[in-house]
Amino acid sequence: MKMQPLSPALGVEVTGVQLAALADAELQELKQAVFNNGVAVIRDQDFSPEQHIAFAKRWGGIDVNLFFPSNSQWPEIAEVRKAEEQKTNIGGGWHTDHSYDQIPAMGSILVARELPPVGGDTLFSSMAAAHDALSDGLRQTLSGMRAVHTSDHIYRPDGYYAQTDMAADLKGHEVSTRAVHPVIIRHPVTGQKLLYVNAAFTTHFEGWTREESLPLLSYLYQLGSREEFQCRVQWRPGSVTIWDNRLTWHLAQNDYHGHRRVMHRITLTGEPIGA
Ligand code: SIN
Repeated sequence: MKMQPLSPALGVEVTGVQLAALADAELQELKQAVFNNGVAVIRDQDFSPEQHIAFAKRWGGIDVNLFFPSNSQWPEIAEVRKAEEQKTNIGGGWHTDHSYDQIPAMGSILVARELPPVGGDTLFSSMAAAHDALSDGLRQTLSGMRAVHTSDHIYRPDGYYAQTDMAADLKGHEVSTRAVHPVIIRHPVTGQKLLYVNAAFTTHFEGWTREESLPLLSYLYQLGSREEFQCRVQWRPGSVTIWDNRLTWHLAQNDYHGHRRVMHRITLTGEPIGA
């Protein structure tokens, strides 16, 4: 297995393996690479939906997404898709999958199924780099704080997507979520300190109003999206990307109007997170 960095901040490109036939030792190496680097893009895969599901189970459990359209044949697979005529995409703002859950997903495995001729890249940002860029004073303040995460303003009938041309594709409008997590967490495997708020799902700090929270959250969102903390995955047929949700944010670029893009995503069960 060969690994090349995707950027100075995070991510590796992996070649020389087939995920569908990975030996246990190779899987351990790949897991460690994801925990340390946040993102691994694996090229040139021959990876059926059944193999995708079987591979995901080797990481632990699967957290089925309650809002995205499920693949009609394989309910464990959420489809992240945008049709030629749609203008809105799924995941077009910086976010961490499922941070609104009590035990947020460990990560995701995303497989390219139909790609536009150009564009539709996915950007990732390192929350370790964002944490390390905080001043000592702000880091100390944030270390004692917790924040509220919810998906209600995104997926409920009066939420963001209901106003868009993606409304009919999404489901779970009746589902309400809420979780409170420390603003700075420790990575459950590596022990690395990470900033754990995100622009899509974190609404306010615990014990603060939204109005009071917004200026500081906006600062953290700006900090976390600095270009030098990012890497870019340019998809090709046969590409599979695995990311660690604790260590990263991601954003799906919406720059391919008039073309179809279909990705298969499986979200991996996580473990309790703490400061
Ligand atoms: C997502 O999981 O947010 C989607 C990422 C992508 O479609 O590139």
